[in-house]
Amino acid sequence: RTVLLLNGPNLNLLGTRDPAQYGTTTLDEVERRVRDLGKELGAEVVCAQSNSEGALVDRLHEARGYAGVVFNPGAYAHYSIALRDAVDAIEAPVVEVHISNVYAREEFRHRSVTAPVAAGYVAGCGVFGYELALRAVLRRDAERRA
Ligand code: DQA
Repeated sequence: RTVLLLNGPNLNLLGTRDPAQYGTTTLDEVERRVRDLGKELGAEVVCAQSNSEGALVDRLHEARGYAGVVFNPGAYAHYSIALRDAVDAIEAPVVEVHISNVYAREEFRHRSVTAPVAAGYVAGCGVFGYELALRAVLRRDAERRA
């Protein structure tokens, strides 16, 4: 079973970017934790990050036949119809993650155009949310197979 951990724009700066909102854990460390949890749960986690909308669309297409995707679309969640359509187009269940509690922040962060087509949604749990999302993706996958 393969799961894609996909991070969108500015998440390469995790660890130093606005630590009050996003914490001090780096993206490398997040990827390591999620990969380790994957190993524990019998899944191979492949990791990718891009600041480009098109590259994220391409990466989602490549994950078509995967067990699932853990996806933090960053700010694109708030307005990218292209990413919404990509999430909707692939068979693999996508669980959307936001590190911060977007509902406790600016109004423009309250709307996600990708969430309605995602299999699940985790927000406000810090980087631990990625681990929760991986567990959810694998549970979904097991249910789909049963
Ligand atoms: C974010 C929330 C978005 O509003 C913001 O643009 C990000 C990070 C989060 O993980 O909390 O880049 O997706």
